[in-house]
Amino acid sequence: MTEDSGEPERYSLNDAPSVERSFATRTTDNSARFFLPHLKPGFRLLDCGCGPGSITIGLARAVEPGEVVGIDTSRGQIEAARRQAAVERTDNVRFEEASVYELPFEDESFDAVFANALLIHLSVPSKAVAEMRRVLKPGGVIGIRDADRGFDLRSPGTPLLTEMFDLWTRILVHNGASPFYARNQKQLLVEAGFDRVSATAFPLTYDTPDATRRNAAGTRNVFESLARTAIAQGWIDAARVELISNDISAWGENPAAFGLTLWFSAVGWRR
Ligand SMILES: C[S@@+](CC[C@H](N)C(=O)[O-])C[C@H]1O[C@@H](n2cnc3c(N)ncnc32)[C@H](O)[C@@H]1O
Repeated sequence: MTEDSGEPERYSLNDAPSVERSFATRTTDNSARFFLPHLKPGFRLLDCGCGPGSITIGLARAVEPGEVVGIDTSRGQIEAARRQAAVERTDNVRFEEASVYELPFEDESFDAVFANALLIHLSVPSKAVAEMRRVLKPGGVIGIRDADRGFDLRSPGTPLLTEMFDLWTRILVHNGASPFYARNQKQLLVEAGFDRVSATAFPLTYDTPDATRRNAAGTRNVFESLARTAIAQGWIDAARVELISNDISAWGENPAAFGLTLWFSAVGWRR
């Protein structure tokens, strides 16, 4: 549940430190490249749901000497992001605890707003986008990016892998998330009143032994965190979670393994 927002969702990856650590490997290069051509030095930029701040710090470099603010509802993530900014001696970035549903900023106060892997976790992405638009100056640019869980593929498939993805989606929906919203990002921005909206998709594929092994480890990690909810709901027991987890690892070791995750992104400008 986001504090004071009145929204019914519960962030699905709360209290999952190893998953949170994996987000710190994200960079502007692997997660925000679509947005960089639209940024200019001196821009004031807001990163919503910034997590550990690794992307935010890269965005701060892109708009130097402009100011970048990262917000997140997780105090732990904000503290981690502040530590990282200090380590990287990035002094044009700051981090604040806040919800994207209620941004503690004046209307029309940013040149650019950004969110990576946030809107999928919200029950009302359109409400978050409206709030992001409120703080954008006229002529300002928004960039959003998320995976759409309807396009996940692991080949060769197995009944246990199918069960895992079904359960994964069921848990996200139970937590009030929007696992299939990303395919509609263009519609979301057009309906929010943005101009010149464009959308695209990027396939992430896992093919080499190293890539399938790393993807299996990451997938297992996220699945085991999410599965705590499923166990608490009585949908599955710990033994079956382990069976599924072992199947994910076995997929990662299979020389025939191929995997796909489809990420969508969209940009638009405020009139
Ligand atoms: C999957 S992580 C993505 C973090 C980062 N953007 C990245 O791509 O690595 C989603 C983040 O959104 C945060 N979050 C969830 N609900 C939020 C809300 N209503 N407002 C702001 N942040 C939120 C979570 O605490 C988490 O850090």
